[in-house]
This record gives sequence, structure tokens and C-alpha cells, in this order.
Amino acid sequence: MSAKDFPVIVELSTPGRVGFSFPEPDVPERPIERLLPVDQIREAPPGLPEVSELDVVRHYTRLSHRNFSIDEGFYPLGSCTMKYNPKIHEETAALPGFRRLHPYAPAEEAQGALQLMWELERALAEVSGMDRVTFQPAAGAHGELTGMLMVRAYFAARGEKRTKVIVPDSAHGTNPATAAMVGYQVITVKSDSRGNMDVRALRQAMDESVAAIMLTNPNTLGLFEESIVELEEIVHGRGGQMYLDGANFNAMLGMTRPGDQGFDVMHMNLHKTFTTPHGGGGPGAGAVGIRSHLTPFLPVPVIEKEGDLFRLDDARPQSIGKIRAFYGNFGNLVRAYTYIRTMGADGLRQIAETAVLNANYMLARLRGRFDLPYDRVCKHEFVLAGTRQKKRTGVTTRDMAKRVLDYGFHAPTIYFPLIVEEAIMIEPTETESKRTMDEFVDAMLAIDRETQDNPDLVRSAPHTTPVKRLDEVRAARQPDLRWKTRP
Ligand SMILES: Cc1ncc(COP(=O)(O)O)c(C=O)c1O
Repeated sequence: MSAKDFPVIVELSTPGRVGFSFPEPDVPERPIERLLPVDQIREAPPGLPEVSELDVVRHYTRLSHRNFSIDEGFYPLGSCTMKYNPKIHEETAALPGFRRLHPYAPAEEAQGALQLMWELERALAEVSGMDRVTFQPAAGAHGELTGMLMVRAYFAARGEKRTKVIVPDSAHGTNPATAAMVGYQVITVKSDSRGNMDVRALRQAMDESVAAIMLTNPNTLGLFEESIVELEEIVHGRGGQMYLDGANFNAMLGMTRPGDQGFDVMHMNLHKTFTTPHGGGGPGAGAVGIRSHLTPFLPVPVIEKEGDLFRLDDARPQSIGKIRAFYGNFGNLVRAYTYIRTMGADGLRQIAETAVLNANYMLARLRGRFDLPYDRVCKHEFVLAGTRQKKRTGVTTRDMAKRVLDYGFHAPTIYFPLIVEEAIMIEPTETESKRTMDEFVDAMLAIDRETQDNPDLVRSAPHTTPVKRLDEVRAARQPDLRWKTRP
């Protein structure tokens, strides 16, 4: 059977086939009416596929091979930090005491879990320079929402009416979306020619109606904001709050602390920096760190330590309330904790050093063959432009990204950030070897040659994947998720 057209699980169904075989029961069977409320018993069976266990295993294993994963190959998706998730995390997250713990277990029976969260909070506070950290948000964008709700509550408590939030034009798209969701008017400030937030433009835009600036650092160009001290003086000088989008904290770990730079609130994507699995909408953890003046507004419950015991504190009248069920994605907190404890302080610093070194190595090899709109030492990622190739033979960045798939890699991020035409955003992460990075760079250089020697080959890529070019807009707007019988 070809990998392209294997049947869906319903088509594999054979009447009477089952995935288990048990000996005949030697006790009388109880009638279904005694097991379930009568009004909830189906009149007819639900029509599930009738398949053997082996059918199921083969079907889903085949399906999984049509996907791409970090365990299979290099995933240089800029802004996403698709780094290796060490397998020991799965072992600790699956320890029965963690896995089987009920979220409603009373605090006295969940001391180990509370201790883990408390210690993880202390560790993240230490590396970020923040005073407290909450783990409730389920992702980075959700962390932004949590952080900005706290900012709003802070000004409300002070009786100040502020209506605006400033974001640079290089901001991650979730930043302006968050500010708007929280009810603020979004003011966009341009980047300067070095890719930093324009200090003069900020000075002009900043006044007492601005609640906060939301800054991504390193920014979406992969560059470190060079004027943080001045930005901080301008914003705090007018009583505003400094929000850091620290989703890409892996570039800074152990090198510098946002709390020391003057940020009041930040989120960190544990599912990026601290190697908990992510992608495909899976569980994330967008921890939010705050300075002490925002502590009263933390979502409840807050984990407190008294003597040797840990407790959940819900009695916080100024809290923004609950942002998610329970305390967040606990399994991912166990993974992040394991990571931090296995890396140690020196290891965390090495993460940043290696992530930055790797990105600059690849940049050095690709510079010259691709346009580079902001030519600076980068942090953990960098942004090239496919403008030269497009001008030469009309081959676009999208075409080249599709061709990357034929070389066995995941494509880099493309057309983001929006301020770079034909953007190609590459993030190697610190977990890749020089050999893998070289193979990817060689592929990019080969594709660049193909854009000149055989542009149609690139224009019609990919050639080796189960599906070719999909109508991405239609797939998002009119998803067809229902199985229908083939005629
Ligand atoms: C800079 C930045 N901010 C925010 C986010 C949003 O995080 P999430 O996808 O977890 O909501 C991301 C995602 O990668 C990001 O790179």
C-alpha cells in the first residue's frame, strides 16, 4: 500500500473484529441497565471502527510518519525554539506520585507537587530577576494576557486611567492582540535602522495615558534591544509599566536578568526555553514573572511556604482571579523543573551561549548568499531575506521553504517578522550539532543555486512529501475534518 493513499481507520473496519480477547467470564454478566442510567444507554452501537490492536498500531504509526518532529530531524523554525526535549523529562513527569495526583487533592496530600512548583518559582525568579512567578497560563500568549490583566488591575487600584499600550513594529503579533484584548488602544512605534525600538519615537508617543510598553527581547529580528536603559527611563518616568515578552529567554539565560533591566512583568515560554514539548497546539506553560508591586494581583491560588509546609493561598482580594483551571499544565512544570535541575546554573548559561553561537555560525555561513536586512551579531535566531532570489528569477521565499522539505528538514519560519520583505527566520537552538547545522546550510546554499540553474524545480517543490502545496488559507478557513464514505 502506498504511503499516499492508505485508508482511514473507518475503512479498515471489518465487522466483528476486535482489539482484545479475554477469557469467557466465569461470573454472571450484569445487564447494562444495572450499570448505567437507562436514559443514557444508546439505542444502537456508536459505529466505531472494528479493528484489531495490530490494525490500530499500524494505522497510527503510519499516520505519525506523515508528520515531522524534532525527534526525526532539524526544525529551524524561527521564533519557535524547537529544541530537543530530553527524554528524562518524560520519566519524571510520569512518576506515579505526580501523574496520579488529583488536582483537587488537599494541599497536605500534595506537598511534593507544591514544593516542586514553589522551587521552580524560586528558580525562575532567580534567573529572571523577578520577585514572584505564576504558572497558571497555558501558553506564551496566555501569559501576556495574564501579565497585562495584572497591569490593568495595578492602575485600577491606583485610581489611574490609562488607555494605551505601546508596541514596536517588530513585536510578536500576540503582543498587540493581547493589549487590544485587555481593552487598550495599541500604539505602534517604528524600529530604527539597527532593528531597535526607536527611542525618539517612543519619547514622543509616551505620556501619562500609556499603561505599558510591550517589548520583545531579543526582538523578532533576533536582535538584542540596545537601548533598554533609555526606554526604561522614558516609560517609568511617565509612570508606565515595562512588559517583556520573554518567550525567547533562552538567548539570555544566565547572562542578564530582565528584572535588573527594569522590567516589571514578563512571560517566559517554558515550552520553548525550558524544553517542554510543544507544537500543534499541545500543552504549553507561559510562566509570568512580576516585580513585587504587582504581587497583590497574581492569579489565585498562589503557592506559599510556611515553615516546611506549602499551602495554596486563595484569599487575595486584589487578585485578577483564575486564569486557568487548577495551577497550569503541571506535567510541563515537572519537565521544566527537571531540566533546570539537570542543567544547573552553569548549564543554563551554556544554553544561552550555545544558542547564540549556533545562530551566529549559521548566519556567517549564509551571509553573502542571502540578503540580510539587519546585519548585526544576532542572538538565538536571525532573519534573512529572499529578495535577491525573487528579483533574479522570481523564485519566492515560500518556494525555497517548500524546497527545504525535499532536503529532509522542517522549513524555517517565513514572512515573519512582517517588517522584513520575503523574510526567512532561522533558529538552530543550542541542541543541534555543527554537523546538522552544516547540512542545513549546505541545503540552503544548494537551493540558492537551484533558484538560478533550475528555478522551476524550486517553484514546484516539494517533490518528496505525502502532500504537495496545500491551499493554506482555505484549510484554515474551511477546515474539512469530517470523514465521508468514498463513492
Ligand atoms: C516572541 C514570542 N511571543 C509570544 C509567543 C506566543 O507564545 P505561545 O505560542 O506559547 O502562545 C511566541 C511564540 O513562539 C513568541 O515567539
